[in-house]
Order: sequence, then C-alpha cells, then structure tokens
Amino acid sequence: MRVKGQLITLEGIDGSGKSTVARLIAKRLHEAVPQRKIILTAEPTGGQAGKILKAQLSASDGSEPSVARRMEELFLFMADHADQLEKLIYPSLQEGAIVISDRYADSTAAYQGVTLRGVVPDPVQWIREIYSPWNRHPDRTLLFSLDPVLALQRMQSRPEREKFERLEFLREVDKNFRHLAALEPDRFVTIDASRAADDVAGQAMMPILKLLEQA
Ligand code: TYD
Repeated sequence: MRVKGQLITLEGIDGSGKSTVARLIAKRLHEAVPQRKIILTAEPTGGQAGKILKAQLSASDGSEPSVARRMEELFLFMADHADQLEKLIYPSLQEGAIVISDRYADSTAAYQGVTLRGVVPDPVQWIREIYSPWNRHPDRTLLFSLDPVLALQRMQSRPEREKFERLEFLREVDKNFRHLAALEPDRFVTIDASRAADDVAGQAMMPILKLLEQA
C-alpha cells in the first residue's frame, strides 16, 4: 500500500516558541520514523510574495497601515501560501513525506482576522471561506498556547520590533486562534507552550505519533 504524506501545521502567537519546537519535532521525527522523509517549512516563505512580506514586516514602524495596504498584505499572505502549496506541499505529500509547516493558513485567518476588523464584517470567517475551495487542509494542527503577556516578555530580547509584537494585538490574535481551534476540535490539538522547549516538543510529539499510527 502506498504511504500517503501527512501535513502537520504549527500555529500560535509570536513568542510562543513554535519555530524552536518545530526544529526539535523534525529532529525527533527523524529518529522515530527514519524511513519517512520529513520536510520542515514555514510561512511566510522565501518565495517572491514571502520576501515582499518579510521586507514590509521589518520596515514597519508599528503605525496602522491604510485599509488598502492591509488588503494588500492579506493577498500577499494568500499568494505566498498558494506558492508554497504548489512548490512544496503538494509535491512533498505526493512523495509520501511528513510535512511540518511553521504557520499556515490559520495564521492568515487569525492575524488578518484582526487587521481587517471593520473592513469586512467577519474577517476570520471571510478568510476561511476564501481559502476553503483550494487549500490543502492540514491533517493535524498544533496550537501553541501561551499567555500573550509571557509571549511578549519572551520577545523582549529579540532585536527586531515588528508591528505584530504588541500585547493588545496578540491578545486578539490569540482569541482568533482559540476560536479556530473550537471550530475544528478534531484537527486542532492545543499544546501548553509555557514550559521549556524540550517539554513542549515532547507534548507535541504525542498527537503527531498518534496521527502517523492511524495512517
Ligand atoms: P514569523 O516568520 O512566524 O515570525 P517570527 O519573526 O516570529 O519567526 O511570521 C512573521 C509575522 O507574520 C508574524 O507576526 C505572524 C505574521 N503572519 C500573518 O500576519 N499572517 C500570516 O498568514 C502569516 C503566515 C504570518
């Protein structure tokens, strides 16, 4: 029987430690299932739209952009996502790989679901509906949950000051993530991200190994 690939996405607010844990998970998976190919990726990607986004994020002075710029940002995130589906996600799944994506479409629903409030009536739902006909749904999504106050404290040591790194904003993004998890309880697993990275990776491995057993 052909082994199908699995898509596992990692989500959470800035400072939740996802990226560190993502690397630990990839390493542990290499050890646990050496016969499987493991692909670790992230959004925004290094592709064309992703590069524009990264440049805009680091150039931001924290002031609120115009509605037009916020819409542009939404569609750049979506374009970047479409590009990653085409270039990496579909071909890797086709080969039977386990793909781990540090952020995915749920980040767009959670973050742009905040930036587009007042622009469209229910931005989280609207963004979900735009994605729904063409997105590859993740097989499992791990939501790294951390009090935004703690997340912000963790980020104080970071050199870059991006606009997203603000408490009130992160609180709203956090609410959106929890709302998304409640909408799809079979897909989402919430992980307590307040502990040390090794412990968090240990917690994260359990639902991943369970998913692989079911495949
Ligand atoms: P990321 O590279 O994960 O941040 P970090 O610098 O912590 O590694 O993501 C950059 C920022 O982009 C982050 O604040 C979350 C935001 N973002 C969105 O607003 N929408 C999206 O669709 C994605 C993927 C990220």
